Amino acid sequence: MNLQHTVRWTSDCVARPGTDARGRRTPIAVTSHADLLDRHRRVMPSWLALYYDEPIEIVSGSGRHVVDGEGNRYLDFFGGILTTMTGYDVPEVVDAIRTQAGRLIHTSTLYLIRPMIELAERIAALSGIPGAKVFFTTSGTEANEAALLLASTARRSNQVLALRNSYHGRSFATVGITGNRGWSASSLTPFTVHYVDAGHRFPGPAGRPDAATAIAAAVDDLRDVIVTATAGDVACLIAEPIQGVGGFTVPPDGLFGAVKEVLDEHGILYVSDEVQTGWGRTGEHFWGYEAHGLTPDLLTFAKGLGNGLAVAGVVGRGELVDALTANSISTFGGNPLVAAGALANLRYLLDHDLQANALAQGRRILDRLHPLAGKLGVVGEVRGKGLMIGVELVGPDGRSPAPAAAGRVLELARRRGLLVGKGGLFGNCLRIAPPLSLTAVEADEGAGILGDVLADVDGEDLG
Ligand SMILES: Cc1ncc(COP(=O)(O)O)c(C=O)c1O
Repeated sequence: MNLQHTVRWTSDCVARPGTDARGRRTPIAVTSHADLLDRHRRVMPSWLALYYDEPIEIVSGSGRHVVDGEGNRYLDFFGGILTTMTGYDVPEVVDAIRTQAGRLIHTSTLYLIRPMIELAERIAALSGIPGAKVFFTTSGTEANEAALLLASTARRSNQVLALRNSYHGRSFATVGITGNRGWSASSLTPFTVHYVDAGHRFPGPAGRPDAATAIAAAVDDLRDVIVTATAGDVACLIAEPIQGVGGFTVPPDGLFGAVKEVLDEHGILYVSDEVQTGWGRTGEHFWGYEAHGLTPDLLTFAKGLGNGLAVAGVVGRGELVDALTANSISTFGGNPLVAAGALANLRYLLDHDLQANALAQGRRILDRLHPLAGKLGVVGEVRGKGLMIGVELVGPDGRSPAPAAAGRVLELARRRGLLVGKGGLFGNCLRIAPPLSLTAVEADEGAGILGDVLADVDGEDLG
């Protein structure tokens, strides 16, 4: 078969001069977005979600800015889904990757891997879990798979508790613990799963319950589910400290500590899914769990660690991580390339105290967005911690979800040079999560654009 007739190679496409994210002249724009979308639709699955009415290709990045394939420059307030953590084109990180790639990319875990061991030492020490051990994977999904395997093996139980409105990944086990029908395409799962109160729900006309009431309700619900729905010997409860895909919902501080006290009565393990909340993103803490006065048994991480390199994993109490009774390997997990890049990225994060920066810039953005909740009818709530800020968009009744408004805000913000994300059970929440190196000028610029766009959308009739 002559593939030349069916495949158009990128190198065949016409390059035109443009400007990259650093302002350097460069040949970019190998094809138009429309053409690339057409090719995407032909060969990629229909369920692979794309943003925007006219999806874009991002071809270069520097700092917190990216440039698309048609030469448009954007301030990036979503960082490739909270993954570009220290920024684009950070020389310390890029150089570490380049050096390691030139030396050795891969060996497999059958051999000692120096950067992987050093990365594990760092993460174990940072985890706050005494005597911690680490297992590396290539995605958050697989990290949660590993945590579930460890917890269910250690507890000899396949019963799992998860939170309503959660998201934990795209495999059978992780869609099985995802409490959001929009992201859970199959009911097949190796686990018997029961969902409990997540401690945060957009309030009804009576307003948000105070923290003590919300915590008491979550604890009551948990006790009720344990005695009515489970066989008692549950393996674990898994929770995102702030639900990411769920719309950056923020439960009251201390809620999961109260939940864990109930779990401890039954010997049920606590797994903190820190795929979005880890590495100081919440500003106040390095891990999201720290707002709740507990120490998790297992913690899963991904996204920001590699700044885009495929590195993720689970860290937990040594005896739990050691619980498997058969051999295992990870061909790619923690390989020399991703481990060297992640180490450089983590060093950069810590050396520049980006957690403190996330707190400062997050407050700056929140200060500008909070007043909009009282001023614009479309803004039901502004919430968040650090650089993890959610805006709940609502209809004229001030309560019903407004997903069309969220889609419209994304479009208008893009046209004005700002990329943001969305989420929530009904797709009506904006998600703001720039790289943690965001500057004050960029925070003001992005918040300003978003405020203007929200004001415009507030005046539109979106049916
Ligand atoms: C909280 C959480 N857990 C797990 C995952 C799955 O991670 P991945 O997409 O790397 O498989 C995600 C992805 O967005 C997530 O937000």
